[in-house]
Amino acid sequence: MSALAGKTLLVVVGGGIAAFKSALVVRELQRRGARVEVVLTEAATRFVTPVTFAAITGRKAHVDLWDASFPGELHVQLTDAADGVLVVPATADFLAKMAHGLGDDLGSVCLLAARGPVLVAPAMHPRMWSNPATVQNVATLRARGVAVCGPVDGPLASGASGMGRMVEPEPLVDALEACFTPQDLAGLRVLITAGGTHEALDPVRFLGNRSSGKMGYALAERAQRRGAAVTLVSGPVSLAPPADVTVVRVRSAVEMFDSVSNHYPAADVVVMAAAVADYRPAEVSPQKLKKTGEGVPAVTLVRNPDILASLGARRGAARHPTLVGFAVETENLVANARDKLARKGCDLIVANRAEDGFEGDSNVAVLVSPEGDLPVGALSKRALADRIFDHVVGLARPGV
Ligand code: CTP
Repeated sequence: MSALAGKTLLVVVGGGIAAFKSALVVRELQRRGARVEVVLTEAATRFVTPVTFAAITGRKAHVDLWDASFPGELHVQLTDAADGVLVVPATADFLAKMAHGLGDDLGSVCLLAARGPVLVAPAMHPRMWSNPATVQNVATLRARGVAVCGPVDGPLASGASGMGRMVEPEPLVDALEACFTPQDLAGLRVLITAGGTHEALDPVRFLGNRSSGKMGYALAERAQRRGAAVTLVSGPVSLAPPADVTVVRVRSAVEMFDSVSNHYPAADVVVMAAAVADYRPAEVSPQKLKKTGEGVPAVTLVRNPDILASLGARRGAARHPTLVGFAVETENLVANARDKLARKGCDLIVANRAEDGFEGDSNVAVLVSPEGDLPVGALSKRALADRIFDHVVGLARPGV
């Protein structure tokens, strides 16, 4: 579930051309379960109208501080109800007002009365963004705890390109969500593996498996959002890496073993979500294997190193870092997982059935640990990642 679910958010729309994107931001906030109130500055109404937002939210969008149709003080009512405020787009003028504590319209007065997190999404011409006045105003706001998301380098409405483009709606809402996410993994270095491995037969063929990498990527995203410094060792997958995560790409089990062994000494938590091939072809042909007559080639396999078991053995009695493994089973789910927990020397095994776990976006899992078995039912991979870290947070120790 999104950290924004059930929250009431006040969106203040500023008067810049990027105002048109604020409608998409409001939609995305609602999609994640938030209730949204909208205030537009007078200048914003030159680009978008209150009707746009009333249609999306089902509530009146406000412009006028002196709206006589509202009994009482509108800015107090709006900020009493709001868990946080998002300014989108934040113009140079609006940032200046915020930095100086001015309140001459509904939006700026709401910012003065706001409680909870405040996030601004600046958008302006690059020369305005780099103007010393703006630079100082933004520094003042940051020092007061205001979160600033963007701008980014890219094409601008003027046809020019540069640092001044507003962040896109989805990453912007991600940034707001982060403001509401407890940073309970802050200070921890988390090493995660994801995806399957490709065990080469020749330059164009390999033995592989059906792992999509979605579970490992969801783990990396959630750990980063909860404040951890994350390294993701990824087998070949077709997923975009999560933001602000260090990604190391590998192909084979041996490459994954080498990479994990290198990063392991700096980790406080290791989560082995990768579906590592247990075997690899004994010989890798340097040339493409050709068909020869009617015969069928025989492939001899050799064992790959068991990465998780090697880490379990290496950490020994110190039990640092915290070790989490996965078990994909077709039968005797919990018994096999408990056996793996002992055999590989880990703190937690996430057990799931082969038919539930692969390729899809959700998983039915049991968390098997020395403390007992915890069935978590059907969850999205993102929600399962959170349940895993809820367990890990009680075990992990930073920087031992
Ligand atoms: N794993 C690993 N290195 C391997 C194989 C598996 O680190 N060579 C890790 C996986 O990342 C996963 C856990 O071990 O976290 C369980 O993998 P699985 O293949 O189910 O376990 P096996 O030990 O191969 O057990 P079995 O073949 O008996 O199911």
